[in-house]
Amino acid sequence: MSNIDIYGNQKIKPMNFNWLSNPAKKHLHGDILQSITRIIDDSIGGPGDSSLHQSTLLSLVLSTKPTNILELGCRDGRSTYSLLVGCHLLNLYGIKSKVTSVDIEDTTFQCPLYLEGNWNFVKNDAINFLKNQSYGYDLVIIDDWHSSEHVYNELTLLKPFITNKTIILLHDLMHSNSTPEYNITKYTNGEFEGTGPYGGVQKFIKENNSYEMSTIPVNHGLTIMRKI
Ligand SMILES: C[S@@+](CC[C@H](N)C(=O)[O-])C[C@H]1O[C@@H](n2cnc3c(N)ncnc32)[C@H](O)[C@@H]1O
Repeated sequence: MSNIDIYGNQKIKPMNFNWLSNPAKKHLHGDILQSITRIIDDSIGGPGDSSLHQSTLLSLVLSTKPTNILELGCRDGRSTYSLLVGCHLLNLYGIKSKVTSVDIEDTTFQCPLYLEGNWNFVKNDAINFLKNQSYGYDLVIIDDWHSSEHVYNELTLLKPFITNKTIILLHDLMHSNSTPEYNITKYTNGEFEGTGPYGGVQKFIKENNSYEMSTIPVNHGLTIMRKI
C-alpha cells in the first residue's frame, strides 16, 4: 500500500493506542487511577446534582492546564475532587496547578491526603473574596449562591482579571431540571432571586458583548463561558 495520500502527502502513521509516555508509565497507578475511576463512575450515573459534569471538569483541567483554579461553592467537594485530581495529574507531568475553593460555610469535603498539597479552602462570602483578589485565575467555576444579582456581581468582579484564555464555568443555568432549556423562571426572593444564574449571565453578556457561552444540557447545565 502506498505511503502517500490522495493529496500527495506522507500518510500519518496509524495511532498506536498501546503507547504510553514515560510519566504515564511511572505515575498512573494506585490512588490516582482509583480517583479517575471514581470520577468516571460518578459521571456516568452518580447521585449528585453535578455528578454528570465531573469528567468534564477533569478533562477541562487536563486540556487547558490552568495554573490557578478558583471554585466558588464547594459544599461536600464533589467538584473540588475532580478539579484536584486534574491538578494532581498535571503535577505528575511536571505542570504546576492548584485549586482555591471558597464557601461561605464550612465544607464537609474530606480531602484525600495525596491531594491536600494542591488545595486551599477559604471560608468566606464569594463576593467578599472577589473584592479582595489580587490576581486572576485561569479556570473559574461558579456554583455558589444562584441569584441573578449575585452571579452578575461575581462576573463583574472577575472581569478585570479575565483574558481570552480564561475559562469560566457556571453550574445551574438550567436549574431544577429545566434541561435542555435555560431556566428563566422569575423568583422574588431566595436563592434563585431574579431569573437565577441565567439572568446574571445574560445581564453581564449584554453589557460586555465580547463573551461567548455554551451549555452542556445535563444535571442542571454546565455553562462554559469565554471572552472572545
Ligand atoms: C450547589 S453547592 C456547591 C456544590 C459543588 N460545587 C459541587 O458541585 O459539588 C453551593 C455552595 O455554595 C455555598 N454558598 C452559598 N452562598 C455563598 C456565598 N455567598 N459565598 C460563597 N459560598 C456560598 C453554599 O454554602 C454551598 O456549599
